[in-house]
Amino acid sequence: MLPSAALFTMMLSCFCLHHPVGGQDCASRQEIQVSLKQVQKLLSAHETSYLQTLRNLNKKINLMQSSATKLPDRATNSTCPKLEAPANGKKLGRSQSVGHEVHFLCHAGYELVGSESRVCQESLTWSGQQTSCRDINECASSPCLNGGTCVDEVSQFSCVCGKGWSGPTCQTPLPTVFITMTNMSDAAAAGSHVRPSRCTITQRATHCTCEPGYTISGRDSSVCTDIDECKLFHNGQAGRLCLHACVNTPGGYRCSCPAGYNLSRDGRGCKDIDECATRQNNCTKDQMCVNTHGGFQCLRVDCPKIPHATYVKTSLIRCERNPCPVDNRACSQAPNSFSYHYLAVVSNLSAPRVMFTVSALRLIGDTLRFSLLGGQQARRHFTVQRSDRVTGELMLVRPVQGPATLEAEVEMTELERRGQLGRYITKVTMFVSQYDF
Ligand SMILES: *[C@@H]1O[C@H](CO)[C@@H](O)[C@H](O)[C@H]1NC(C)=O
Ligand SMILES: *[C@@H]1O[C@H](CO)[C@@H](O)[C@H](O)[C@H]1NC(C)=O
Ligand SMILES: *[C@@H]1O[C@H](CO)[C@@H](O)[C@H](O)[C@H]1NC(C)=O
Ligand SMILES: *[C@@H]1O[C@H](CO)[C@@H](O)[C@H](O)[C@H]1NC(C)=O
Ligand SMILES: *[C@@H]1O[C@H](CO)[C@@H](O)[C@H](O)[C@H]1NC(C)=O
Repeated sequence: MLPSAALFTMMLSCFCLHHPVGGQDCASRQEIQVSLKQVQKLLSAHETSYLQTLRNLNKKINLMQSSATKLPDRATNSTCPKLEAPANGKKLGRSQSVGHEVHFLCHAGYELVGSESRVCQESLTWSGQQTSCRDINECASSPCLNGGTCVDEVSQFSCVCGKGWSGPTCQTPLPTVFITMTNMSDAAAAGSHVRPSRCTITQRATHCTCEPGYTISGRDSSVCTDIDECKLFHNGQAGRLCLHACVNTPGGYRCSCPAGYNLSRDGRGCKDIDECATRQNNCTKDQMCVNTHGGFQCLRVDCPKIPHATYVKTSLIRCERNPCPVDNRACSQAPNSFSYHYLAVVSNLSAPRVMFTVSALRLIGDTLRFSLLGGQQARRHFTVQRSDRVTGELMLVRPVQGPATLEAEVEMTELERRGQLGRYITKVTMFVSQYDF
């Protein structure tokens, strides 16, 4: 508006400057004054309206400013604080806006404490009290009889019965065998094989269980009977429960081993005790201690007494012939040496197998001959065979059932052009144990 007013004034002054002379051609002074007054009026009207508009604008801006500072408070706080679901329960409804409602439910076995429903109020707080879920105490009604102790669990309970009582609510007297047993060691001594069961009672059912090693047998669910693992797993597919003997115990079992053996670390096998290494033997100083499976032997080597020759002990297990008088043929034909060896083996050892080898250190003649001496018994169980030029083997030909002691003699003969240069006897004694472990 202002620019157009200025233009108007300028046009007016131009008009008068370009036509300064000849008053007749130019408008009269009166006419000009009237025109100017009209323009003045117009200008002041414009000024008033302009100022008014400015004031209105200012007012509007102020209003907007003040409302802008107040608005956010109202906008963010139109909801109530968030409510969490109670432990062991749940919340229904998510809205936190004013006027909305949330509801609470508790899981089975719990009861609701506080408000079931809460409303978001104008004050932006929730109505009612805080909600929680409390475990229902099934023991409140003292359901266990005869001095039983009630154990409250979630939506169920169980009874720990006093002496002599059994059953879900301790309503059943126990068989007399049990009553006489006052504690576990007494029970074990009496060969206890009954125990009370432990029952859990819910609204729908009663479920009784036993301690490990016991089971409910028959109709009476209040009594647990010991499981005889030894009988149950006798010849089980997974192998024998115990290598030797199984002993049933209240609630379990244990393995046992015969004398001379210790239970192995796995609890089911048997391990031979080495009495010779542990001084659990009574062998004297001049005796050798030979450990066998399940026992030991105290042995002393005495050199043989045979006609025409005498022997001297050269070690604990060896005797050598004393030099023969010249031309004493009987003496020179007697064995040059006797050596003694002891083997400990388990019963029913698989056969055939090499039990012992006899070897010459050096060969003086041109041949060595190996043969088995000894009676019928030796021949029943053994043979002797050559494995190379200087070695003979004593073979077990069939399994032996222990306990048994077998003896065999291996003769090694040194020959030259069929003449005998020397004979050497090796005596082998085999101690076969009673058990095959
Ligand atoms: C508005 O809400 C904020 C956080 O949400 C809170 O700190 C403030 O106190 C509330 N104001 C009122 C008036 O409730
Ligand atoms: C259990 O019995 C054993 C042997 O009879 C006895 O020594 C022990 O004191 C008893 N224990 C209890 C708790 O009665
Ligand atoms: C065998 O067992 C007994 C008792 O368990 C123990 O005293 C002994 O030292 C054991 N012997 C061997 C050789 O392990
Ligand atoms: C060792 O003791 C056993 C009995 O424990 C006995 O039969 C045996 O004769 C004894 N042996 C020796 C050499 O004393
Ligand atoms: C001896 O061993 C064989 C084969 O291992 C077995 O079949 C047999 O039953 C065993 N005999 C005895 C008496 O243990």
